[in-house]
Amino acid sequence: MRDPTSFLRQEYEDLVSQELDWKLRVLSGPSAPWCVVDGKKVLMLCSNNYLGLSNHPKLKEAAKRAVDSHGAGSGSVRPIAGTMDLHMELERRLARFKGAEASLVYQTGFAANAGLIPQLAGKGDVIVSDELNHGSIIDGVRLSAAERRVYKHSDADDLASVLDEVEKIFPPFRRILIVTDGVFSMDGDVAPLDRIASLGAEHGAMVYVDDAHGEGVLGEGGRGIVSHFRLSRDKVQVEMGTFSKAFGVVGGHISGTRDLVNFAYNKSRTWTLSGSHPPAVVAACIAAVDVLEREPQHVQKLWENTRYFKKALTDLGFDIGKSTTPITPVMVGDSGRAKRLSARLYEIGVLALPIVYPMVAQGKARIRTIMNAALTKKDLDFATSAFEKAGKELGIIPVRA
Ligand SMILES: Cc1ncc(COP(=O)(O)O)c(C=O)c1O
Repeated sequence: MRDPTSFLRQEYEDLVSQELDWKLRVLSGPSAPWCVVDGKKVLMLCSNNYLGLSNHPKLKEAAKRAVDSHGAGSGSVRPIAGTMDLHMELERRLARFKGAEASLVYQTGFAANAGLIPQLAGKGDVIVSDELNHGSIIDGVRLSAAERRVYKHSDADDLASVLDEVEKIFPPFRRILIVTDGVFSMDGDVAPLDRIASLGAEHGAMVYVDDAHGEGVLGEGGRGIVSHFRLSRDKVQVEMGTFSKAFGVVGGHISGTRDLVNFAYNKSRTWTLSGSHPPAVVAACIAAVDVLEREPQHVQKLWENTRYFKKALTDLGFDIGKSTTPITPVMVGDSGRAKRLSARLYEIGVLALPIVYPMVAQGKARIRTIMNAALTKKDLDFATSAFEKAGKELGIIPVRA
């Protein structure tokens, strides 16, 4: 007889035996520089809350006010009865912030990638994707009927040859869509979007950048990667992002032309068939855009902290990879050692999680730290000394006399 559910426990137990299961850590209270995680007070060094906005008084106040004025829920999907004035205001404010003609807000960044990518390219088209793109892009590509090509990570020369190969195929593809992360979340490196945009223009391809880790971080006042490279919007047609990282709330978004937004909200099933954000979320997102426009000090502080911490780790002898952003990987190599380092850091009082195979290649395990503008120099010195102590104990850095 077929057993309909035994695979559930078996597959879970397989993951547990290989130590590939997720062990959830529980925060009691806000995501702040110092958090209580599993009952212990620790310095937070791995959240995506780059600017500390998730606990910013203006965001919290805006969320509370919106509950009083608009209620707890939106009541519907956006196209039926779930578009409130707040949703429209957020899209106007975001487009202005990004310097784009229009923006559209999705429930999450994942929903934006999974819902929009398969609509932008379908049968008769080709999607050309960086080999290390985020899982939500990969799933968006899988949902498309388009053909797929993958180019070597951040390698514009390889992208150029893939595009040349694509152009040789007959009958010609109807559309070419190039998709890349802006900042790659495992290594903290920045995609060569200037070169990608030029190649896109040369081949009549649409360029789609997922700037989840670039917004609030790169560019003028944290406006993101398109601003960072000072690219014109007709060369990067889709700038996608999220409110769940530097903006400190939740929600995905795209920015581009009005044509793009009209197309996207009529075609993305993740948008049309899923309930819209509750008022508190939308109001907090508007407040986050407001804070970014009015309080440039958070982005400046993020970069000051980043430089300080990277230098301190390098001076101690840690290998911090090739990151040029506030994501600083501390390369360890062996998965077991990375896990032990993370566990020891937690004991000392720092939460920084290991990234191990299969999230990164075998032998490339690391601790991924993510900087936060709300950390003080004293906090950073505490984090550095924790890394020094644990790194020496585990033989990752030399013990100098
Ligand atoms: C590059 C990238 N794209 C998309 C997402 C998904 O964003 P969201 O959390 O809004 O679903 C993430 C988040 O992990 C990400 O890192």
